[in-house]
Amino acid sequence: MSIDGHTGLYVILGNPIGHSMSPAMHNAAFRALGLNNVYVACRVEGEELGAAVAGLKALGFQGGNVTVPLKEKIIQYLDGVSEEVQLMGAANTLYWKGDRLWGANTDGAGFIKSLEKFEPDFRLLEGALLLGAGGAARGVAVALALNGLKKIMVVNRDMTKGQALVDLLKSLGCTALLLDWKSPQLIQALTENLLVINTTSLGMAPRFEEMPPLAYDRLTTDHRVVDLIYKPAETRFLQEAKKRGCRTMNGIGMLLEQGLLAFRLFTRCEPPEEVMAAELERWLT
Ligand code: ATR
Repeated sequence: MSIDGHTGLYVILGNPIGHSMSPAMHNAAFRALGLNNVYVACRVEGEELGAAVAGLKALGFQGGNVTVPLKEKIIQYLDGVSEEVQLMGAANTLYWKGDRLWGANTDGAGFIKSLEKFEPDFRLLEGALLLGAGGAARGVAVALALNGLKKIMVVNRDMTKGQALVDLLKSLGCTALLLDWKSPQLIQALTENLLVINTTSLGMAPRFEEMPPLAYDRLTTDHRVVDLIYKPAETRFLQEAKKRGCRTMNGIGMLLEQGLLAFRLFTRCEPPEEVMAAELERWLT
């Protein structure tokens, strides 16, 4: 990669940000397409976010991404956001719409793309059991509701956060219900809902031994079990599901798909999917 006076600038903002795989993935894509662009990572403190966005505009950055914990806070500093960002309350992609710096969310749509590859008929499954109600859960739940899933059961420890997500899903026309991890109804919910999605951080590296407290014996070969975690590639949650004959999917597909969608938005070019997928694999192994 040679940088010169014409090099286009792209960025990911977050805190911490050193672990992000987005720079490697997008720079590999720029190289493959012969684009004179560079994508860098910047750690930004929350209170500096307004100044950082003003700086990106002043310096002529062409777009990029924003990640935890800035996805919610950045909205106020942008010139506009998509309808999905408004519903999800979070943006992960920055791009220019004319002279306005715009916020989009490709996490939700990326999740749906990966789910469609894994289970094209997911809309025909009885419903989804969503474990967690944090930022990731909100993106996934809204995307599922906007993509035709009619029933979503949410399990969360913090009932206020859980109820807020359930209320949002109901406003989108979904049948939604909040359950406690200790609720006796959870066993029935696990039996009835054939799509089970973990959005909690339980089992994420380095806490490999953790897993959501579920009655795993209720899982059957009809269940489709998804973990948004991609490190490790197979969490204990997915291992337990596999033991019961379930088909499983980890979060790598979602990570790739959100990147492909973001790349299209901020470069207006078709992304080299295989190159980006290979780069992710390389980083994760
Ligand atoms: P993210 O943006 O990755 O979703 P988050 O907003 O902090 O991160 O959400 C983390 C999710 O994991 C939440 O649903 C959280 O549950 P609470 O809202 O009840 O805190 C869940 N989570 C994290 N640690 C957990 C634990 N030990 N037991 C149960 N749920 C846990």
